[in-house]
Amino acid sequence: MKILLTGGAGYIGSHTCVELLDQGYEVVIADNFDNSSKKVLDRIKKITGKNVILYEIDVKDKMDVDKLFDEQKIEAVIHFAGFKAVGESCAFPVKYYRNNVDTTLTLLESMKEHNVNNFVFSSSATVYGIPESVPLQEWMKPGCINPYGRTKYVNELILKDAADADENLSVVLLRYFNPIGAHKSGLIGESPSGIPNNLMPYITQVAVGKLEQLGIFGDDYETRDGTGVRDYIHVVDLAKGHLKAIEYALSHKGCELFNLGTGTGYSVLDIVKAFEKANDIKIPYTIKPRRAGDIAEFYADPKKANKELNWHTENTLEDMCRDSWNWQKKNPNGYE
Ligand code: UFG
Repeated sequence: MKILLTGGAGYIGSHTCVELLDQGYEVVIADNFDNSSKKVLDRIKKITGKNVILYEIDVKDKMDVDKLFDEQKIEAVIHFAGFKAVGESCAFPVKYYRNNVDTTLTLLESMKEHNVNNFVFSSSATVYGIPESVPLQEWMKPGCINPYGRTKYVNELILKDAADADENLSVVLLRYFNPIGAHKSGLIGESPSGIPNNLMPYITQVAVGKLEQLGIFGDDYETRDGTGVRDYIHVVDLAKGHLKAIEYALSHKGCELFNLGTGTGYSVLDIVKAFEKANDIKIPYTIKPRRAGDIAEFYADPKKANKELNWHTENTLEDMCRDSWNWQKKNPNGYE
C-alpha cells in the first residue's frame, strides 16, 4: 500500500517514513525542502534499506499535485507539510495562512478528483490554547492564541466539513504534544535552523558546545518546581501513532480527532535533570523571565488514542534524552 507523506523529509515526517517502510508500506514523499534537507532521504535508505519516491514539489501547486496522483496509486495521505514557527506566524500571518491552508485545500481537491479517500492531518496541541484544566481531552474547547495555532485549527475545521460532506472520505486529526528524541540509529533527528526555539534542541546544542547555557523561561509558574510543564513524547512513538491513524482511517469513515501525547507532564527542570542523568553531561542554565505566550502546564489525556487507535507510547523520558543526545553528538550541525 502506497502512502503519500507531504513534508516527509521533516522531523516527524522522516520518522514516520521509517516506521511505514519498516512495516512494508511504500512511501511517496512530496517536499519542497523549504525547512528540511535532501540528506534525509539517504539516511532513511540507510536505516530501512528501502527507497522512497520523491516529488520535489510545493503542495500548494495543484498541477504538480495532480501529476503526482496521476502517476502514483496513493491509498492515503499524511499531511505534515507546513510552517511551524509560532513567532514567525505572528510576524507573517498571511504567509502562514496561505501556506498552511492552501496546501490542505489543494490536497483535498486533488484527492477527490483521483478518488483518494484517506487523510491524516498533522495538527498540534497548540490548538487548545490556554487550558481551563489539564489533562487536555479532545472534546475541550479550542482556544488558539497565535496565528500558527489558528492555521492548524482552520485546517481541522476544513477537514471536518469535507468529511461531513463526502461519505467516502476518512479524516484523522492528530494533535501532537511535544515531540523530542530521535531514531535510535542517530541517523535522523530534529535539525532546526538557527538558534533553536524549543527546549530539547536547545539543551542538546548546549551539550555539544554550540550554545553556552540554557535559559529557563520562568521559575515562578504554579507548577511543582515553578518551571513550565509539558507532555514530551518520543518522536518514534509519535510516528507509530500515524500508522495506527492510517489503519483507523482505512476502517472508519468520517472525521475523528486524537491527542498524541504520553499523559505525563514534565517540568523544564525535570528535563534538564533527566538529560544530565541519562547522558552524564552537565547542562548549565540560568533562570530568565517568562517567555511571552507560554503556558504553565500542558499535557494530554491520551486515553482516546490508547483505546480507539490501540496506540501506546513505549519510550521513557530517559530514552528520549538519550536518543536526542545520540542524534546531536553524531550530527553536531544537524544535516548541514
Ligand atoms: N523553554 C525554556 N527555554 C528554552 C526553550 C523552552 O525554558 O530555551 C521552556 C518553555 O518555556 C516551555 C518548555 O520549555 O515551558 C517547552 O518549550 P518548547 O518551546 O520546547 O515547546 P512549547 O510547548 O512552547 O511549544 C511546542 C511547539 C509548538 C507547538 C506546541 C504544542 O514549539 O509549535 O509545542 O503544544 F504548538
